[in-house]
Order: sequence, then C-alpha cells, then structure tokens
Amino acid sequence: MSDAYEPRPEHHFTFGLWTVGNKGRDPFGFEVREPLDPFEAVERLAGLGAYGVNFHDDDLVPFGSPAAEKERILERFRAALDRTGMCVPMATTNLFSQPVFRDGAFTANDPDVRRFAIRKTFDAIDLAASFGAGVYVMWGGREGLECEAAKDVRLALDRYKEAVDLCCAHVRDRGYDMRFALEPKPNEPRGDMFLPTVGHALAFIGCLEWPDMVGLNPELAHETMSGLNFTHAVAQTLWHSKLFHIDLNAQRIGRYDQDFRFGSEALRDAFNLVRLLEDSGWDGMRHFDAHAYRTEGAEGVWEFARGCMRTYLILAEKARRFAEDREIQDALLEVRASSLAEPTSPAGLGREALDDLRSASYDVEALQVRGWPHERLDQLTLELLLGVR
Ligand code: GCO
Ligand code: MN
Ligand code: MN
Repeated sequence: MSDAYEPRPEHHFTFGLWTVGNKGRDPFGFEVREPLDPFEAVERLAGLGAYGVNFHDDDLVPFGSPAAEKERILERFRAALDRTGMCVPMATTNLFSQPVFRDGAFTANDPDVRRFAIRKTFDAIDLAASFGAGVYVMWGGREGLECEAAKDVRLALDRYKEAVDLCCAHVRDRGYDMRFALEPKPNEPRGDMFLPTVGHALAFIGCLEWPDMVGLNPELAHETMSGLNFTHAVAQTLWHSKLFHIDLNAQRIGRYDQDFRFGSEALRDAFNLVRLLEDSGWDGMRHFDAHAYRTEGAEGVWEFARGCMRTYLILAEKARRFAEDREIQDALLEVRASSLAEPTSPAGLGREALDDLRSASYDVEALQVRGWPHERLDQLTLELLLGVR
C-alpha cells in the first residue's frame, strides 16, 4: 500500500534496536521471536522509510565482547548505515540488565558498582560520539528501591546528580557536541524509581552543575503509568526548552509497562500529543520506544514499526485539518482560546501595574454568567478524528 502516509526519512522517525529487536519475553513467558541481527534491523527500517536507529551499548556490542569482536561488529554496523543512509541520532547505556546493577547503577550503595556504571557510560558515550549521536539518553532502569530502609532518597539523589555531572564533565573534556536527556519512569523494574515523573526530573536538572547540557526524554507510557497527562508533560518540557528527545508508544493507565504500538491505545491523547509536537515546530526525532505484541512472529515486527509511523503521519494530517476546519476555528474563537496569550497584566509587575490591579473593579456578575462551549469544540474535534468531517 502506498499513500499519503508513507513514512520518509525527512519525517525523522527513529526506532531503538531493542524495540524492533524485542523477542517477546515477559515476566511470565520466554522469548517467542528469534534474535534480530542489528544489521537486518537497519536494512528493514530503512526500507520502511525510517530516518535512524538508536541503541544501548549492549544492543550492538554484547556485554563482555572481546575488543576484536567489538571492532568487527562496529565495522559491519557502520557499513549498514552507510549503505542505507540511516543515522544514529541517539544512544544510551544499558545499566539495568547485568546482575551487577541489581541494587542500582548511579545510585547503587556500593561505590565500586557506581564507578563501574560511570565507566560503562563513559565508554558508551564515546561509542555514541563515534556514530555522531547528538543526544544521550539516561534512563535509570535500576535506580530505585523496593526496601525503603536500604536507601536514603536524598543521598541517592546526591549520587545521581554526581553521576550526571561526571558524564557532562566527560563530554566537555572530550569536546563532544552532545546533550543528555533524562527519561523519568515511576516504576518497573524497580518498585519505586528515582526521578519518577517529568516534573521531578525538571526540578532535578536545575540542581546540576551544567543544567544547559541536560534536558528530558519523556515517554508516553511512563507518564501514563503515573496517571498523568503526557501531552501536558511534553508541553511543560517544551515550555522549559527541555525537550531533547521523546519516546512514543501507547499505554493504558493502571497497567504494567506495555510499550504498545504508537496510537494503539488512547487515540485522542495521541492526537493531542502529535498536534502539540507539530504546532510547536519541534524539530527533534520522533522516536518509537515500543515493541510488537508478543503474539507476533518475525514479520509482524515490521507491521508494528510501519504502524507506528503511519499513525503518527495520519494524526499529523488530522492536526493540519484541525487548524483549517472553519467550524473548529469558530468554536476556538467562542472559547477565546487565543486570549490566553494576552498578558494578565499588560503593564508588567511594577508598582503602577499592581495599583491598577488593586484598584480596578470587576463586574463579577457579568463574568460568571457566561458559559464556555467546550462541549461543542470537543465534539467537533472528536468527529474530525472519527473521520466524519
Ligand atoms: C523502559 C525504557 C527504556 C529506555 C531505554 C533507553 O521502560 O524500558 O523506556 O526502553 O527508553 O532504555 O534509555
Ligand atoms: Mn519505557
Ligand atoms: Mn523509553
């Protein structure tokens, strides 16, 4: 099928090697799909119109590989990228799979484990830089706890800050053009994780040594797991100029970490998110951190990947139609959506402005009788999404 929703590299869609390479293991069941060769992942994604691939160090070079094997893998991978024109816009470290990180990585109680985690991250940063990645994601998969008494959260945050500062120092020392994106998550795999939401992470960044080098990689599933509105989380991240990367997928509130195909759940939320990203002119990657249902076989993985990108493009078109739809625009006028852009105090914060606000009188009676036709605006939006307008 070829239509207006055919993904192309200029759409900047990216996937992690671990996403299309997901073998379908879950806490109750074994792998159902064969391992996917990273070189095949690059070829297949390029064939579908993706722009790039991202990876954890261990996705590409298995943990503990001897130096010669590492070189061989990197050479082959580079050749696959050159052949297809695919990029590596982002990379990250696996600080969660190996048993050594069972008590955390940057926040492990054992200082040697922490130093090993930093060392592994430095190496992975060097690898990322060698592929030209401009964004380095930090997801603290094991940074958290189950037994509350085992860690003082305030000390854990001291160590977390120290680790992020050290990684920034490494990037500065090496002279790389790279920024960090923290990825909050409330739980899974830990019972409770540090930096659980976008809000926590934004506050944390303000306490770092080089806050300008650090932003966020918010994930739809993660904020939704917390019962929060992901579109609002992204909007506030944009407002702080901290959207460095984004993880798109689908998730139902109150469930385990599902990582479903983008748009497969909560379609209206997905639309609101795409409209925000498109309207904001955000020029970063549209990265999918999701995987195919466990029911799928090898070919279904590509159906999944294609579906993520197509749904994004379809929703982006709906966002354009939203902006052009006369009735929707009239309804926006009626709810005075654009008046929110007017300053509340046009004269500013000075004494005169304060005096004006203090002395003005308001016809509260008149202000309170008016209803706001949100029902109509909402229904029109829904009908646009349902394809009947
Ligand atoms: C998860 C996370 C990870 C990270 C990845 C990149 O819930 O497992 O979303 O997929 O995004 O490790 O840092
Ligand atoms: Mn996730
Ligand atoms: Mn993620």
